[in-house]
Amino acid sequence: MSAHSSQVPLLETRDLQRAFGHGDHAVRAVERVSFSIQPGEIVAIVGESGSGKTTLARLLLRLLDSTGGRILLRGEDVTDLRRSNDLKAYWRKVQGVFQDPFAAFNQFYTNRRVLENALKLLNHGLPRQEHTQRIEAALREVGLDPADTLDKWPHQLSGGQVQRVMIARALVIGPELLIADEPTSMLDASLRVTVLNLLLALRKQHNMGIIFITHDLGQAYYVSDRILVMYQGELVEQGPVEKVFAMPKHEYTQRLLADVPRLRGA
Ligand SMILES: Nc1ncnc2c1ncn2[C@@H]1O[C@H](COP(=O)(O)OP(=O)(O)OP(=O)(O)O)[C@@H](O)[C@H]1O
Ligand SMILES: [Mg+2]
Repeated sequence: MSAHSSQVPLLETRDLQRAFGHGDHAVRAVERVSFSIQPGEIVAIVGESGSGKTTLARLLLRLLDSTGGRILLRGEDVTDLRRSNDLKAYWRKVQGVFQDPFAAFNQFYTNRRVLENALKLLNHGLPRQEHTQRIEAALREVGLDPADTLDKWPHQLSGGQVQRVMIARALVIGPELLIADEPTSMLDASLRVTVLNLLLALRKQHNMGIIFITHDLGQAYYVSDRILVMYQGELVEQGPVEKVFAMPKHEYTQRLLADVPRLRGA
């Protein structure tokens, strides 16, 4: 039994699809995407704007219904979860971090309230004092001083700090899988590295699986074990990051890689 369960991927999709609209006018944002991620693995999803990355992230987070295919979490089909309690149980295991942390937070909530609300999702009946301990530990883990952070509102922090509060929010919950959709694209270069290193630390400390969405190949290379390339809704290439970068098979991936020096030099 345990030997078997170690073979089961943390998350798997089979021919996952999402179309917007109907008939000839339908946008096929995600088209028959099949991949899996193992516990503790970091998988990057890259692709140009509009290739379906965020739609895929929202499907995986069960924030958006699919129009075809399946999603399995540790072998269990979660595609049709609808009941609030089932979704909450899912979100204890699968959490997201998004591009614009300011938009993700209610601007009228202090960081303390944001993090306490996250703990409520756990529904664990921990004593109040342990709430505080857990929240403070999560903030320290992302490099923030609890005393300096908890009673502030998001707009009193920098973009990088809010992004770290968002990661702390995920940490408080302690998911097995973190889906990070362009978590660094609104940060300046030095904070970007801080957040990337934080993702690497989360994997190391908690064996978290991480899906890291970016259109920056350099960042994908820096953090990921494996890379998936999306093009017009389809997964056109996947493999170990070294291999895909050394020998891109798909024409789109070749073009994407050819663009890197030019973008860097600009
Ligand atoms: N709610 C929606 N209704 C209609 N079309 C949508 C909706 N959400 C996304 N789309 C379309 O689906 C396609 C994929 O969009 P998506 O946001 O997933 O791309 P992306 O790869 O995340 O792009 P970016 O790099 O710009 O974030 C686009 O053509 C987009 O216009
Ligand atoms: Mg996107």
